[in-house]
Amino acid sequence: MQKINAIRGMNDLLPKDAAAWSYLERTLADLTRAYGYEQIRTPIVEATALFQRGIGEVTDIVEKEMYSFEDRLNGEQLTLRPEGTAAVVRASIEHNLIYDGPKRLWYTGPMFRHERPQRGRYRQFHQFGIEALGFAGPDIDAEIILMGQRLWDELGLQGVRLELNSLGEAAERTAHRQALVEYFTQHHVQLDEDSQRRLQTNPLRILDSKNPSMQTLIEGAPKLLEFLGSESLAHFEAVQTLLKANNIPFKINPRLVRGLDYYNLTVFEWTTEALGAQGTIAGGGRYDPLMERMGGKSAPACGWAMGMERVLDLMAISKSVPESDPVCDVYVLHQGGDTLVQAMIAAEALRSAGIDVILHCPPDGQSASFKSQMKKADASGAQLALIIGPDELASDEAQLKDLRGTGEQHAVPLSGLLAAVVDALVDS
Ligand code: HAM
Repeated sequence: MQKINAIRGMNDLLPKDAAAWSYLERTLADLTRAYGYEQIRTPIVEATALFQRGIGEVTDIVEKEMYSFEDRLNGEQLTLRPEGTAAVVRASIEHNLIYDGPKRLWYTGPMFRHERPQRGRYRQFHQFGIEALGFAGPDIDAEIILMGQRLWDELGLQGVRLELNSLGEAAERTAHRQALVEYFTQHHVQLDEDSQRRLQTNPLRILDSKNPSMQTLIEGAPKLLEFLGSESLAHFEAVQTLLKANNIPFKINPRLVRGLDYYNLTVFEWTTEALGAQGTIAGGGRYDPLMERMGGKSAPACGWAMGMERVLDLMAISKSVPESDPVCDVYVLHQGGDTLVQAMIAAEALRSAGIDVILHCPPDGQSASFKSQMKKADASGAQLALIIGPDELASDEAQLKDLRGTGEQHAVPLSGLLAAVVDALVDS
């Protein structure tokens, strides 16, 4: 029979990687608690219109990367979420989350984008994100950036750089856009095919072009920062002052535009050179226009999201994943029949007391030799082996063997098994 494989760009998370994921998830839980963020979980499938309107029609994500389909039963247009922000805003409007004041929220989970898979770029990937809804001041922009920096420090990541920009407000962007269109129209012959198309649809995205032959032209283009009014500038400067006061290094990158259309004012990305082409580990910014655009009452907001696979990759390079915890405390060996019955009862009793136990289950359903079982016990990482054979059963005993320290083995009465195991675990 032909085997069925996973979809290209969608990966299994195997047991060997699970410890690193759990460690990252625990660190993220601590981080959100330290800053008073509450968890929100939204569905993986949403109405396609949510992303069209939220992320913007003329973006790579909406134009070519979404997994969209029609619900066969009722004809609804649905999409696997490519990001989390639009849905968090939808949920906030739907449940009136900020009726009594601003909210600090976080989420994590799989996202889907039909991109060309390569290292760090997948079709199903995982994001951790935070969204601070209802806050207008530069203090919250700085707070969410501090959170990011704290996270990289906690994870021991090296070589992560922060790039910062301000996209100003809509009128300022319109003035800049006009200047850009004029500039690129004057230099039309130097534009590559993609940029010629973008000149008609979204000229700002030309600045994002990675094409080396376009870089000098892009370098000379009018910069948005030159078009910012006094309020936008004051916001941008206040964010920078707070970052400097907290010793957060950053570089202003006037070319940083982000690939989603909901941003205004502050935008930022954390990048690293250690991961090759997909070096952006997280990005975000302020998105004050989104709440109203999604049909809610106007409210300011900002946030960021990181790619968990990219951060885990960088953690592996930085060797910052701690040794994994042992899978269990006790490995129980037996010889089938009545000894299996007793072994299973003993294993359950130990688990009821909070001890982690693996019961040997032979793959062929037959009992295996103690020698081969002992190899499995050793490989499991367990501290102790508990051995129940026919001889032990006849005398209401079990053998307890220390697998890690002295290797010592001794008989314990089944009636006093729990106390003996607890003592041995404390000693080991
Ligand atoms: P984004 O820049 O599209 O922003 O994605 C955030 C992060 O997700 C990226 O920096 C990257 O690490 C990771 N990522 C994106 N696409 C892929 C992929 N195909 N494979 C692996 N990782 C990927 C957003 O999604 C915004 N919602 C962020 C935000 C939150 N802005 C405000 N609040």
